[in-house]
Amino acid sequence: MNKPRIDASEALWRRAKGIIPAGTQTLSKGPTQFVDGVAPKYLQRGKGCHVWDVDGNRYIDYGMGLHPIILGYCYPAVDEAIKRQLEDGITFTLMHPLEVELAELLIETIPCAESVRYGKNGSDVTSAAVRVARAYTGRDRIALCGYHGWQDWYIGTTERNKGVPAAVRELSHVFEYNDIDSLQALFDAHPGEFAAVIMEPMGVVEPKDDFLNKVKEAAHTHGAIFILDEIITGFRWALGGAQEYFNVTPDLAAFGKCMSNGMPVSALAGKKEIMDQLEEVFFSFTFGGECLSLAASKATITELRDKNVTPFIWAQGAKIRDGFNALAAKAGLAAFVRFVGLPPRTVAAFTGGDHFVDLELKSLFQQECIKRGVLFTGYNAISFAHDDQVVDQTLGVYEEALGVLARAIGDGSIKKFLEGDVVRPVFRKV
Ligand SMILES: Cc1ncc(COP(=O)(O)O)c(C=O)c1O
Repeated sequence: MNKPRIDASEALWRRAKGIIPAGTQTLSKGPTQFVDGVAPKYLQRGKGCHVWDVDGNRYIDYGMGLHPIILGYCYPAVDEAIKRQLEDGITFTLMHPLEVELAELLIETIPCAESVRYGKNGSDVTSAAVRVARAYTGRDRIALCGYHGWQDWYIGTTERNKGVPAAVRELSHVFEYNDIDSLQALFDAHPGEFAAVIMEPMGVVEPKDDFLNKVKEAAHTHGAIFILDEIITGFRWALGGAQEYFNVTPDLAAFGKCMSNGMPVSALAGKKEIMDQLEEVFFSFTFGGECLSLAASKATITELRDKNVTPFIWAQGAKIRDGFNALAAKAGLAAFVRFVGLPPRTVAAFTGGDHFVDLELKSLFQQECIKRGVLFTGYNAISFAHDDQVVDQTLGVYEEALGVLARAIGDGSIKKFLEGDVVRPVFRKV
């Protein structure tokens, strides 16, 4: 099986290096996340769940624009809404009716939403939530769990914290998922000082023993605001997000990604009494009410609701996850790789053990998927376009890629089978 020709991708990359620091706008889309020399670097277009790179190679996509493309690329009802709005204008000098119409729809859809405001990226609204909580409580410290974006208050807690002042880092504290004691320990160490607890409802591990409601209760006992970061889970776990699925209503919640099938808009939703801080708290920017994105979001949420998309995504995601895990077991690889997480978003967990390197296993598997037309990123962001035929085709590709992985493991050397550079983690110190 040959690797794809990627000459046009490589030529663009040579032009980008030196004029675009890090080479990419989004680290998870950058070349370090894909086997360099094998994977394409630039995509040109998409339709449904397929994408074409700049050399004309076609792939089944499982990244879906880093999750947002929940209905599929170029989904007619959404694209038509964008085109209709484009005829009228993109952004204006006064407010636009869409701001109100989308707010009403979000309030109907999201359990905690009594009022809403819009941002452009997920980071905008997780950060707005944190500022609102600080304003409401008059406190500074934040407890957090999960990934929340690029802003100082969050990224300062990671390995990739260059440029974040120590004074900001000191106010953010990480607690462990499914470990209420780790949160309580923070509260005990700083009594009455936490403004908020912000967390992803889940990553790949499900909450145990009603963990989310326990966090909410602990936060409230401490006098802190409970914020759910639903940037990934929103409109994916359920139409009303993970808060609907897990039956936990936060004080505030942040949405982005899937709310607009790829257009740049995010939303902060929550209890009116707390949200009303935004009468004074500064959260304002030029493109806040940009209309193409609002039109796309209204069309996306309406379509997700009317076509009952979530159950479909669960069903297709379960076929991929369970099908893959059965194939891995059949290939004798169950100890080395499995898909974990709930069906709407599963993640491949590679375990090298004593003899192999996790990221080398991932790289080889990715290489073999890409050679066979599946753009494997490490996770499966299932969309409405991943129909049975695509799922079957993908499982066929996964079976062959697992076969190569098994041969390499049997041979004792993964690197010998790699035709490009090993992928690297985003959160490395640079
Ligand atoms: C859970 C979560 N929160 C926040 C963000 C930040 O969103 P954005 O990259 O749109 O700023 C992300 C992005 O991946 C995310 O996954």
